[in-house]
Amino acid sequence: MYWKSMTALALATRTAALLRFSCTQLTIDRVDPLVNPGLSPSPHLHQIIGGNSFNITMDPAKDMPAESACTTCQFVEDSSNYWTAVLFFRARNGTYKRVPIVPNVGFPGAEGGMTVYYMQNGLADYQQNSKVTAFKPGFRMIIGDPLTHTAADANRFRQVTYTCLQDPGTRFPETKNLPNKPCPSGIMANIRFPTCWDGKNLDTHNHMDHMAYPANGTFDSRGPCPESHPVPVPQLMYEVVWDTRQFNHPEDWPEDGSQPFDTEASE
Ligand SMILES: *[C@@H]1O[C@H](CO)[C@@H](O)[C@H](O)[C@H]1NC(C)=O
Ligand SMILES: *[C@@H]1O[C@H](CO)[C@@H](O)[C@H](O)[C@H]1NC(C)=O
Ligand SMILES: *[C@@H]1O[C@H](CO)[C@@H](O)[C@H](O)[C@H]1NC(C)=O
Repeated sequence: MYWKSMTALALATRTAALLRFSCTQLTIDRVDPLVNPGLSPSPHLHQIIGGNSFNITMDPAKDMPAESACTTCQFVEDSSNYWTAVLFFRARNGTYKRVPIVPNVGFPGAEGGMTVYYMQNGLADYQQNSKVTAFKPGFRMIIGDPLTHTAADANRFRQVTYTCLQDPGTRFPETKNLPNKPCPSGIMANIRFPTCWDGKNLDTHNHMDHMAYPANGTFDSRGPCPESHPVPVPQLMYEVVWDTRQFNHPEDWPEDGSQPFDTEASE
């Protein structure tokens, strides 16, 4: 993500807020201003949403999202950019096809895109009254690593999960791995970013070290932030819905039971 400002999120102690909004697709392109600034094409294909000042290079000193004239997000105040790598299906015969992204249930009319959440507590916690500090202009972070596919690596990002959609409204269970069998209504990726900030850096060389998960428990269980990253920030979460229906024929899936879908990082 590339943070500008979220005027709708007032973060005084007494404010209770859960923001949930839809952002339609800005573009799908081989660009990544965080990992590969200035490089076009970048190694990975991304779906990008948010402000229209998005570019292959985004100088953090310039607060570029502030230069956006419009945004694909429902809240015009939010000209941040958010992006995720796209998912591909590898058929048994070796062909690759990009999996279409579809709007989430409840947001008809949106083209692809994602649902974005900013939360002060877990999704099911109606109080939403924990004290969190707003992201500062120019803030950026990444979660996930497109180069690794082992369970240990996946566990570094403990709150990136998947839901096998039996119907568009399915919300549980969430699994750490992509579903190992076809899902009737597609797959939802639930991408929760870390919620503890070092309080100093808007970004770091790997775009991750300024952020950490709670020292124990989770954001949802109100686990405390570690001493190294003492400042709680809102839980940023994306939901991305992949329409896998055209790939649900068992005869197209790998015979060895391996995963036919491949996904990459979110930023
Ligand atoms: C986008 O980046 C390109 C290449 O760095 C640059 O030439 C162009 O002026 C930038 N566009 C905007 C609107 O900043
Ligand atoms: C490979 O399989 C896919 C899925 O069944 C099919 O759409 C495609 O035409 C096949 N490609 C080749 C070259 O056989
Ligand atoms: C988490 O850490 C806090 C503060 O150190 C402590 O009070 C709490 O008991 C811990 N919770 C768990 C589940 O370990």
